[in-house]
This record gives sequence, structure tokens and C-alpha cells, in this order.
Amino acid sequence: MNIIDNNRNFMKSNFKEMENVVSDQMKNLPQPTLEKEFDKDSEIFGLVPIEKIKIENDNLILNIEHRKSHRQYIEKPLSLGELSFLLWASQGVKSVYERNNKSYATFRTVPSAGSRHPFETYLLINNVDGLKRGLYRYLAIEHKLMFIHELENQNEGIIDATLGQKFTGKAAVVFIWSCVAYRGEWRYNIAAHKAMLLDAGHVCQNLYLACEGINAGTCAIAAYDQEKVDTIIDVDGKNEFSVYLAPVGKY
Ligand SMILES: Cc1cc2nc3c(=O)[nH]c(=O)nc-3n(C[C@H](O)[C@H](O)[C@H](O)COP(=O)(O)O)c2cc1C
Repeated sequence: MNIIDNNRNFMKSNFKEMENVVSDQMKNLPQPTLEKEFDKDSEIFGLVPIEKIKIENDNLILNIEHRKSHRQYIEKPLSLGELSFLLWASQGVKSVYERNNKSYATFRTVPSAGSRHPFETYLLINNVDGLKRGLYRYLAIEHKLMFIHELENQNEGIIDATLGQKFTGKAAVVFIWSCVAYRGEWRYNIAAHKAMLLDAGHVCQNLYLACEGINAGTCAIAAYDQEKVDTIIDVDGKNEFSVYLAPVGKY
């Protein structure tokens, strides 16, 4: 089979074939954690809770109508409240569901097949009030931000890793979503992968609409160098790998 046929088949449903597959969940193997573990001693920043955030444009119909991809940004910073809102809208956790006294699923502002929520959100922060530049990770359950480290040539690095898309280097912040594949595979095995990519679309769409709310713009990015982006966010590229990016800035 050629690559195109293979890829087309990947787009099709294979849930029927799952009838012959015993997933790790069915084998009672331990469930992966709902978010990537983190060192409690790292530098962690509080974010603004959603109840305290006032957004400028809260008309859903207008926000849907105005949504478009923005590839030009001005040098104006995002406030911490605005960044908090974008993170909440794209991956915010509304509740953690317990089963047999264990955390079993998160319910978030976006849907996810089986509520497996396989993504982590990394941020390249360039121009956000009160935050130094560098690589961060969103702790979705805690609604906090973990500083990972500074990056040398941050803006040039992301332009290069997105195959020369220069506007990524002008963004106030670049969202990079990684997939922790076993979170989906634990339950859905061979049917996990198509579902996880479908999940990513919802995340980015909420980011687009949330940007409209704060007079900022974003642009979905799927054209990137896998290895270079994985290196920037410091993941192994096998169990966790980048799947989607979105630079955000005021315009
Ligand atoms: C999955 C996906 C991948 C995309 N990748 C890129 C990209 O790498 N670079 C880019 O400039 N735009 C990218 N876009 C944005 C599209 O080009 C854009 O959505 C399209 O031109 C329609 O314009 P609109 O979003 O303003 O309606 C992507 C959009 C999607 C949904």
C-alpha cells in the first residue's frame, strides 16, 4: 500500500477492529496520570481564575463571525489575565472525576474522546506582563504555569522550527500542544490516534474564539519540523510529541 492510501486509511474509523483488541484498561493495567507530573519545587506562577477575568468581547455570535487567522502581531504584551483566559478556554479543567477513589478523568472546556484529554500545553512566552521570556507548561488541573527554562534565540528558533513562518517569532506567546499518546491508547489502543488528532482541533478552535474575546489573534500551525519543535519543548518525541501550534498576539 502506498503512503497516501495508508494515510487515508488512518483517517477512517477502525473502532470495529477494536472488537478483537484487548485494551490496557480492559487488562486492568494502571491508568496514566491525567496530566504530566511536575516537580513541585519548580518555579510556578499562579494564573487568574476565570471568575475574576473580564473579557472585552463576550458576544459569542460576533466572536464566531469575526474569527479568522491572524499572522501579523504588534508588540503589545498580553496581560496575565488574558493569558489565563486563553489557557482556560483551550484546556481548562472544570472538574476531576473520581472512580474507585482514584482520579479517572478531567472534564474540560473542550471535548475529548472518552475524556482522555491527551494533550499538554507548552508556551513560548515572549511578551506577557509580569512573566520572563522562556518555555513554560500549563498545569491544567491546578490552573497554574510552570516555568521550564529560558531558550537561547527563542524567536529565531521557533521561526526555524515552523519552516520559516516568520510571524511565529513576533507572537506574544506561542502555544505548542503535545500529545501524551498512552493516555488515549490505554483505553482505545489502535483507535486512539485518529480520535486524539480530532481532539486537537477543538482545542485550537476554542483558542481562536477566545482570542476574539480579548482583541488578539492566532493562526493554527500544522506545518512544522517535528524534531525541532519536540526539541524546543524538551519531549522525547516517542511517548510525547508535538502535534499542533498556535502563535498569539495583539493586532
Ligand atoms: C489544521 C490546520 C493547519 C494549519 N496550518 C497552517 C500553517 O502551518 N501556517 C499557516 O499560515 N496557516 C495554517 N493554517 C491556517 C489556515 O491556512 C487558515 O485557517 C485558512 O487559510 C482559512 O483562513 P481563516 O482561518 O482566516 O478562515 C492551518 C489551519 C488548520 C486548521
